[in-house]
Amino acid sequence: MLFLSDVLPAGYMAAEMCDIKRGDIVAVWGAGAVGQFAAVSAYLLGAERVIVIDRFPYRLRMAQEKVGAETINYEDTDVMDALREMTAGRGPDACIDAVGMEGHHASPALHAYDKAKQGMKVETDRPHALREAVLSCRNGGTISATGAYGGFVDKFPMGSFMNRSLTMRSGQAHVQRYMRPLLERIRKGQIDPSFIITHTMRLDDTPQGYDIFKNKQDDCVKVVLKP
Ligand SMILES: NC(=O)c1ccc[n+]([C@@H]2O[C@H](COP(=O)([O-])OP(=O)(O)OC[C@H]3O[C@@H](n4cnc5c(N)ncnc54)[C@H](O)[C@@H]3O)[C@@H](O)[C@H]2O)c1
Repeated sequence: MLFLSDVLPAGYMAAEMCDIKRGDIVAVWGAGAVGQFAAVSAYLLGAERVIVIDRFPYRLRMAQEKVGAETINYEDTDVMDALREMTAGRGPDACIDAVGMEGHHASPALHAYDKAKQGMKVETDRPHALREAVLSCRNGGTISATGAYGGFVDKFPMGSFMNRSLTMRSGQAHVQRYMRPLLERIRKGQIDPSFIITHTMRLDDTPQGYDIFKNKQDDCVKVVLKP
């Protein structure tokens, strides 16, 4: 039940916004709770293949073992090359950004570029995943941006977006709208969201729970606190 209040509707809505047709290939940037649920939902909605991208092996393992997704570790593989190769040169039919404004880049120089711009307040968000999603998507495909953005992004590949007729959909999850239908899917056994729980802690241990989540320690994906 717990995840009906935020991350499950967010992941499901991200997949729904892709308007998936049977046989589609969907790529998901970010293997946190939202990315994992977006990947599960993409399969539920008819995707033939789902490819999840992150740099933490334990998160990619979860996507492989619990979701059945293919994975790319962006620290040792060029994501755009790999996606082209995995899709016979076309690119994924839909690309989900489940990373948002706190994105990281494998290239220290590119990561520093956006961090420096944030520091100088000429850009508020680091849109590494969004840029890659736009550049990787097949012509006429869909970008679904569920990762949170707060303000302004720089170097958005507008030329690629426009000339290749992409569509972008986005939004904070409409949680009330998805609660009941997703509860039904849980009841029917179509989704078991509990697979993302890696830690169960007492309420008194909240600071430690936030710490390991924020710093991606101890293979943490989601902490559940029990009063
Ligand atoms: N739209 C909504 O309603 C909604 C609801 C909940 C959360 N969110 C947002 O969704 C995003 C993800 O949430 P979460 O709880 O899964 O967070 P998380 O921090 O657990 O996961 C984000 C993942 O993205 C990965 N990442 C960073 N840079 C990357 C890159 N360049 N390429 C691929 N992966 C990269 C990180 O390694 C991390 O595993 C956040 O921005 C959050 O605020 C949106």
